[in-house]
Amino acid sequence: MSETHALDLFRLDGDVGLVTGAASGIGRAFAEALAEAGADVTLADVDTEGLETVAGDLRARTDATVLTAEADVTDPDAVAAAVDATVEELGGLDVAFANAGIGLMHGSVDSTSLEAWEKVVDVNQKGVFLTNREAAKAMREDGGGSIVNTASVLGLVGSETPGLGAYVASKGAVVQMTKQFAAELGPDIRVNAVAPGWVHTDIGGGMLREDAPGMEPVQEQMRQKTLLDRLGKPQDLKGIAVFLASEASSYCTGCVYPVDGGWTAL
Ligand code: NAI
Repeated sequence: MSETHALDLFRLDGDVGLVTGAASGIGRAFAEALAEAGADVTLADVDTEGLETVAGDLRARTDATVLTAEADVTDPDAVAAAVDATVEELGGLDVAFANAGIGLMHGSVDSTSLEAWEKVVDVNQKGVFLTNREAAKAMREDGGGSIVNTASVLGLVGSETPGLGAYVASKGAVVQMTKQFAAELGPDIRVNAVAPGWVHTDIGGGMLREDAPGMEPVQEQMRQKTLLDRLGKPQDLKGIAVFLASEASSYCTGCVYPVDGGWTAL
């Protein structure tokens, strides 16, 4: 019989986390989850103003030491610098969320420009690779850790909405990278992914926001696809974040966890 209390498995006291895309939406919720569960955290993003807002909030509300790193996840040097700063200033790296992503609509596949395609794949696919690579190097030197990638339900199924080819492809790649990297990095490093459904955030120029003009019919259609009769909020991702970051998920790796209100169950 284990002597560890179940709830203690979820604590992150003394751990250090890094979250890309932490200035907004789901990444902000991930950073909040880490700090609220006891970890110190580096917030990485291209949005420096947003970073300072989130950092200020976390410093005011939690005991976490919070570092900010202006880092474009498509830039290998910037990702490496964010990881290095985390190790140097916070004392290591235990948890990394490769979360930064963009979503663009471009018409259907026959009218998608190569430039638009590459822009999405660059951030959503290459950015996740670079974040996994740099995090894994640091974790290997420090006894291991947990990497959590943000995929999407659109990495598991296609979309009725045309124009999401690059996005769907990039998220399918995140699902497969998660499995492959888990195989390569175990047993020291666990690699898992979350696959959110529709979550009200600023992604895609704000078209997923609850109050996005003209989006009511689409939101209604998407709400009906869920089994919980609502679309998601960033806070809905906090529980899975703490689970995957912590010892609570110590026997989980190479898995993709839908957090989608039941969207992909049927
Ligand atoms: P968001 O737009 O609210 O936040 C994304 C953050 O990533 C922003 O702060 C942005 O500045 C940052 N970012 C963008 N490009 C970057 C780059 N090159 N380097 C560093 N940071 C960069 O969007 P949201 O919804 O929170 O998206 C987070 C992740 O969740 C993305 O990977 C997205 O694809 C994924 N996702 C979102 C869903 C949703 O319904 N909102 C559903 C499924 C997945």
